[in-house]
Amino acid sequence: MNNINDCLNIEDFRIAARRRAHRMVFDYIDGGADDEKTLARNCDAFDDVELRYKVLSSFANPDTSTTILGEEIDVPFILSPSAGNRLFHTDGERGPVKAAEKVGTVYSLSSLSSLSIEEIASLTSGPKWFQLYIWKDRTLVKEMLDRASAAGYTALILTVDLPITGNRERDPRNGFTIPPKIGLKQIWHGLQAPFWCLDYVTKPAIRYANLSNDTPAVSLNDFVAEQLNPSFSWDDAQWLLSEWNGPAILKGVVRADDAKRAENVGFNAISISNHGGRQLDTSPAPFSCLPAIRDAVSDKTELIVDGGIRRGTDVLKALAMGANAVSFARPYLYGLAAGGEKGAIAAVEMLANAVKHDMVLLGVKSIKDIDSSFIKQKGSF
Ligand code: LAC
Repeated sequence: MNNINDCLNIEDFRIAARRRAHRMVFDYIDGGADDEKTLARNCDAFDDVELRYKVLSSFANPDTSTTILGEEIDVPFILSPSAGNRLFHTDGERGPVKAAEKVGTVYSLSSLSSLSIEEIASLTSGPKWFQLYIWKDRTLVKEMLDRASAAGYTALILTVDLPITGNRERDPRNGFTIPPKIGLKQIWHGLQAPFWCLDYVTKPAIRYANLSNDTPAVSLNDFVAEQLNPSFSWDDAQWLLSEWNGPAILKGVVRADDAKRAENVGFNAISISNHGGRQLDTSPAPFSCLPAIRDAVSDKTELIVDGGIRRGTDVLKALAMGANAVSFARPYLYGLAAGGEKGAIAAVEMLANAVKHDMVLLGVKSIKDIDSSFIKQKGSF
């Protein structure tokens, strides 16, 4: 049995999550769209680049802190938003919230969270950002923005790569619905996930706390088609910015022209992301989009890159390539699904420690020392 205390890396947490979670739940976290080419590519892209470390310039205790959108953070990463965390473990969002607090970074709350905007805010004194999808219902959008602002969320993340859901074939194969519907197949799979099932039957029902919850169990595709607006435009994005008082991030960008346009309409940061390979398969790895986007926007526009971060070296490569910070969800979700709050904290702390460890080996004493001189394309001289 892979206990979370035995996990040495994020892949170990992934295996532990697969052991504990119901199959439909694990596959929902782990899976991508179509042939999952982008899902794999997000990780593999980091292998195209090598780290050229410096010798005789190491410091035993490098400073991993930096700032992102004016927020001082102790590690050069933030936690990406992810939906409905109580599906994965009954501790739900509490796990990543506490993990972010422990390592001193930003927690980003999904508008599809299973705890409410206010409940999450009461759990942490750390920095919090709020993520929004493009709901059809503008009143709901305005209401959520007001609630997030009142509850102390300082920045807005607008996710724009999900006009409809990607073709995630693991979900219909498992009969995955929101909320989960338990039929014969789910009972059969549930026999291999007794602890998850025990929580499911004994703990409060899994729900999206910021929405009305009298909806029947439907597939994610149907849910999104019903609730989200696929024809949201740049003009609408500008309207949204006018409704929000604070910094804003456009999430889901892979093109330099889109990044430039986002900067022009007033976004302060770009989240280079393909939704973890869950949307358009064969879209490029965010890491590989960094140089073109860095060139296209001004220095004042901050770049956050996600997708495939599993090691401290991945974080350092992204920073060397021009990112201001990185973000990730699967690493903490594997931890959460494997061991609740304790697992989420362990996974995030592991990455925080890995960043520090790898900075010693790279020969840098602070994040600002990391520049493009530290990377080289594999195969180049
Ligand atoms: C997902 C959405 C809901 O990737 O963010 O499942």
